[in-house]
Amino acid sequence: MSIMRSVLLAGAESVWLRERAMRYPFVRRSVSRFMPGESMTEALEACRRQQAERGTGAILTHLGENLETLEEADAVTRHYLELLDRIEAVRLDAQVSVKLTQLGLDLGRDACSEHLAELAARAQAHGTFLWIDMESSKYVDATLDVYRRVKVRTPRLGVCLQAYLHRTAADVESLLPLAPAIRLVKGAYREPPDVAFPKKADVDENYLRLAERLLRPGLPPGTFLGIGTHDERIVTRLQALVTERRLNADAFEFEMLYGIQRQLQARLVREGAPLRVLISYGEFWFPWYMRRLAERPANVLFVLKSML
Ligand code: FDA
Repeated sequence: MSIMRSVLLAGAESVWLRERAMRYPFVRRSVSRFMPGESMTEALEACRRQQAERGTGAILTHLGENLETLEEADAVTRHYLELLDRIEAVRLDAQVSVKLTQLGLDLGRDACSEHLAELAARAQAHGTFLWIDMESSKYVDATLDVYRRVKVRTPRLGVCLQAYLHRTAADVESLLPLAPAIRLVKGAYREPPDVAFPKKADVDENYLRLAERLLRPGLPPGTFLGIGTHDERIVTRLQALVTERRLNADAFEFEMLYGIQRQLQARLVREGAPLRVLISYGEFWFPWYMRRLAERPANVLFVLKSML
């Protein structure tokens, strides 16, 4: 892991830095490249534009603070129920993605599962889909446990897995009998080398290996791969693979973050490849924004330019 990336990821966890940086207008300006607004209404409007102008669907996620009480987790659940209802009311092609810590994972798996089940049932009733983000490695076991509990009741539920973790190949195998929907990403947190591959080349290779496994013919019907990456080399390799294997478009889609690799997004749309764009919103954007900077330290230059 590069020094710059480590420093930025450490900064993502700093309350001191967060409290200061969020006040500066130039920081807020540079955040707008990756986030169309802080409110649900602004996010829904970006989603509508995305669909009308580019023809792509969206995934919406609300960036929230760490929780301390179950009442806070209840409030987050109510927020997402409202979001699902508003998506349905205006008939947007938008799904929702949630972080389980926001639904009370630190306060107990049972309460968190109940919150997730309520959201998954509402998403399913509206004919849409619910995703679970993956957070740092200490949450993987609990996240997969909650995913399994709720997936048996509401099949339209997917979970994110991270290719940088040594354990992910085994997690994929253990989930496959459930016909899972998996969003595969490289991984965005600061992890030690015994937990995650420290070299980018190894992460990329593992990504391709895992994606190839999840796109293999003969998997249980309903298995779905969300190819969550902006890496053009990987995207092109996987496009060739799905063509060669003649896979149906309902078995996979490309998923990218709002504002990142716009040209690659446009290319996929032109070529008719299924693409969904993840739009984040909310007031608590600082740690999420630092992870975006860490993914491409050259982004720090944009922040400095906004300062000037
Ligand atoms: P990589 O980092 O190699 O980037 C490839 C190229 O993309 C770069 O060379 C650059 O051109 C461009 N690029 C990538 N990031 C950029 C940025 N921030 N700014 C500008 N250009 C950039 N992680 C996680 O741990 N848990 C999760 O739940 C999710 N969820 C998620 C959903 C979706 C839809 C996506 C696309 C990503 C996530 N992630 C995530 C983040 C993921 O783990 C990873 O950190 C980023 O996607 C960056 O990795 P890439 O695969 O894009 O490759």
